[in-house]
Amino acid sequence: MNRSTHDGVRRARTTRVWATLAFAVAVALVAAGCGGDSVEVATTAAAGTPIAYGQQLAGESCSSCHGQNFEGVKNLGPALTDNHFIRDHTDDELIEFIKEGRSKDAPDNETGIAMPPYGGNPRLTDDDLADIVLFLRTLQ
Ligand code: HEC
Repeated sequence: MNRSTHDGVRRARTTRVWATLAFAVAVALVAAGCGGDSVEVATTAAAGTPIAYGQQLAGESCSSCHGQNFEGVKNLGPALTDNHFIRDHTDDELIEFIKEGRSKDAPDNETGIAMPPYGGNPRLTDDDLADIVLFLRTLQ
């Protein structure tokens, strides 16, 4: 009787020590996670990232001519996958290109079909276009 009461008290005290320790560790982890650059590391893939947003915008504004998977549609738009024009231009140059488009009689037009300015969606902002270009890079 006496002995089991004593054990009970000791067990309770031990539990309290562990609880305090676990709390301290949790506080330390939260503090480490919220400070510094560790938050940035997770932003390279998956939903909610600039690339995912660019993919969504391109799906809405570019895939009608360039295809659902951007592999091109005959007589509408060339493939944007494995594309030398994309590879040979900087992000800023590609953003400018998308804004201007390419008329069908432009000297560098390859298909005789026009690429409309902003792909026909003038609501796209510079930030939107930057995200689209980020996404296009993943197709090369
Ligand atoms: C109405 C159809 C149409 C839409 C919509 C469209 N494009 Fe195009 N795009 C074209 C055509 C046609 C060409 C090729 C013109 C040529 O023959 O040189 C082209 C060319 C391009 C090129 C250059 C590729 C190369 O090999 O020269 C890029 C990059 C491009 N488009 C990106 C986009 C993006 C990004 C969007 C969406 C914001 C978009 N396009 C929307 C028709 C379209």
